[in-house]
Amino acid sequence: MRLFLDSAKTDEIKHGLEMWDIDGVTTNPRHIKESGKPFEQVIEEIAALFAGTDKPVSVEVNPHVTAWEKMVEEALQLASLSPNFVIKVGASEPGFKAIRELSEQGVRTNATLIFSVPQAWHAARAGASFISPFLGWREAHGDSAWELVPEIAAMLNNYGYPSEIIAAAIRNSHQIGEAAVAGAHCVTAGFAVYADSFRNPYTTMGEETFQRAWDETPKQSG
Ligand code: E4P
Repeated sequence: MRLFLDSAKTDEIKHGLEMWDIDGVTTNPRHIKESGKPFEQVIEEIAALFAGTDKPVSVEVNPHVTAWEKMVEEALQLASLSPNFVIKVGASEPGFKAIRELSEQGVRTNATLIFSVPQAWHAARAGASFISPFLGWREAHGDSAWELVPEIAAMLNNYGYPSEIIAAAIRNSHQIGEAAVAGAHCVTAGFAVYADSFRNPYTTMGEETFQRAWDETPKQSG
């Protein structure tokens, strides 16, 4: 399962690349806002961090745009900025039309804001490279989420669609495990979620136990 960092903060991305060997980045308008920098500047800075790699960086088209022609125009402009850019397009009728057009022009896309198998099916039929079910958002509103990944995987498998599932909006380590067991191709989560996933209180307790044992072991005399 590929590890994507869900962030537009360059310090987080640099740490992720250096320490975790992240496989790519996903951004969204909220992450761009949280970076505190203008959109064009931040995506150029992120692109520079991935130059010379084949790691995907998802960048979203302006969410106010509702006409597919305009989505395509904007996506082509974004895609021209970096070979790493994968264009995020929201799940909607014009969004799927834009994904189809972009796919025909060889531009990779990430169908975002996916909450159901039919939406994922439209994305796969249209040629989306990635499909992002927002699992945490479903759970936040009282719906169960974890049947969605295996169901989308079964749908892709039934028809041989090559789209990859990104388990998105992941809120904790348990959900990273759920994504892996459910067979997601990729997972995307925020910096703090991954940082937590490296830690476990039992491991800390065990290390302290072993350190005490080490210190209390008789030392060789002479
Ligand atoms: C995925 O690509 C999205 O950017 C992300 O998971 C959205 O969820 P969040 O910003 O609420 O975490």
